[in-house]
Amino acid sequence: MGPLAGTQLLGLISLTAALDNGLLKTPPMGWMAWERFRCDVDCRNDPQNCIGENLFKDMADRLAEDGWKELGYEYVIIDDCWMSLIRDKHGRLQPDPSRFPGGIAKLARYVHDRGLKLGIYADMGTRTCMGFPGTTLDKIELDAQTFASWEVDYLKFDGCNSNPVQQMLGYPLMSKALNDTGRPVAYSCSWPCYQGGLPPYVNYSLLGDICHLWRNYEDIQDSWDSVLDIVDWFSSNQDDLQPAAGPGRWNDPDMLIIGNFGLSVDQARSQMALWAIMAAPLIMSNDLRNLDNSARAILQNKMAIAINQDPLGIQGRRLLQESSRIEVYWRPLSQSASALVFLSRRTDLPYHYHTSLTKLKYEPGNYKVYNVFDGSSVTRLNATTEISVSVNPSGVVMWYLLPEQQTETRSQTRQHHALL
Ligand SMILES: *[C@@H]1O[C@H](CO)[C@@H](O)[C@H](O)[C@H]1NC(C)=O
Ligand SMILES: *[C@@H]1O[C@H](CO)[C@@H](O)[C@H](O)[C@H]1NC(C)=O
Ligand SMILES: *[C@@H]1O[C@H](CO)[C@@H](O)[C@H](O)[C@H]1NC(C)=O
Repeated sequence: MGPLAGTQLLGLISLTAALDNGLLKTPPMGWMAWERFRCDVDCRNDPQNCIGENLFKDMADRLAEDGWKELGYEYVIIDDCWMSLIRDKHGRLQPDPSRFPGGIAKLARYVHDRGLKLGIYADMGTRTCMGFPGTTLDKIELDAQTFASWEVDYLKFDGCNSNPVQQMLGYPLMSKALNDTGRPVAYSCSWPCYQGGLPPYVNYSLLGDICHLWRNYEDIQDSWDSVLDIVDWFSSNQDDLQPAAGPGRWNDPDMLIIGNFGLSVDQARSQMALWAIMAAPLIMSNDLRNLDNSARAILQNKMAIAINQDPLGIQGRRLLQESSRIEVYWRPLSQSASALVFLSRRTDLPYHYHTSLTKLKYEPGNYKVYNVFDGSSVTRLNATTEISVSVNPSGVVMWYLLPEQQTETRSQTRQHHALL
């Protein structure tokens, strides 16, 4: 694989339609409650951290005031446990009145006033995963209308407590019901998670027609083991998963846990790098009120974000698994650029990995190489030149590469400036 193969993949993608209401031409970016705040409903004893309107207002403030919004982090997404245990007298879902006293419409206004978008959660089934009211088939239209009337911008539709037949009917029905509201709503489907995530049980062509993104695999947890498990599953199954992604249709390996408790600085860089390669949603689940500087710098790395948000929207792939336990990942980008990630699965010391761009199937020529996390760059790297890359245990080195012609095109020069 190399830059040439990228163009072939692009051809493949353009043959398939996407849920086309103009949303999520690049992977969504934002913040979601679940991994960090779970189902903490104890606002009496834990008012700072419970699932209630104050948590979402706090996070909207942080996204708007701490430089996140300008980088593209725009969705504030409520997960499970926001609801009252009973629907209202008209059969509509309603928020828990003590934890969301202002209601969701007012929270949406608060979020919109800060130039952000609000996401919400529902479950295709009799009950949500945590036991709150579910959205059975007969409730789909009503719930879609309720969310649109609140001016919600994004729906995560989970799948606990339903069977495969109900899911096969319900996920397309919700897509149509959201469209019928006339409000553009980004639609995240957990459907493939409940079908094992792979063909023949999952039809990724159909998913791309009805959903903007979908959770394929298990929930992320706050640990490096969990990150690796997810990366391994997506990479082992990349022949099925990678072609499914494209503008308006994304695989979702789940939230970024950077800034929490489970990852070292190197491991946090690894998650950011691999999520950028996978064209994954960059949806953080952390406490933006208490984030250390290294986590902030990683999550706000402009070049990693630009790689993730590349307009071609081609998901990258794992190229190599070396016996030295170095793995190489690659993603083709617009304007003949590309990204490489060298990941170390080692547990001893920084490893000097020897390779060349030719060995990684790059075309002959010279390349300009930017190191995404240390900010250094190299010009005129000949593809045949032997290089040694020092990769820390459970860390990455991430490169952004541009071919260097005799005279660079204007748009490439522009892109350098945009990235640096
Ligand atoms: C509804 O679907 C049509 C056809 O795909 C699309 O053109 C339109 O933008 C959609 N509207 C909304 C509000 O999602
Ligand atoms: C997958 O869904 C598409 C509709 O998007 C359909 O045309 C195709 O036949 C389905 N494939 C299988 C194997 O069911
Ligand atoms: C790259 O190096 C090879 C081998 O030394 C040489 O033949 C080739 O001309 C070089 N390419 C460029 C673009 O400098």
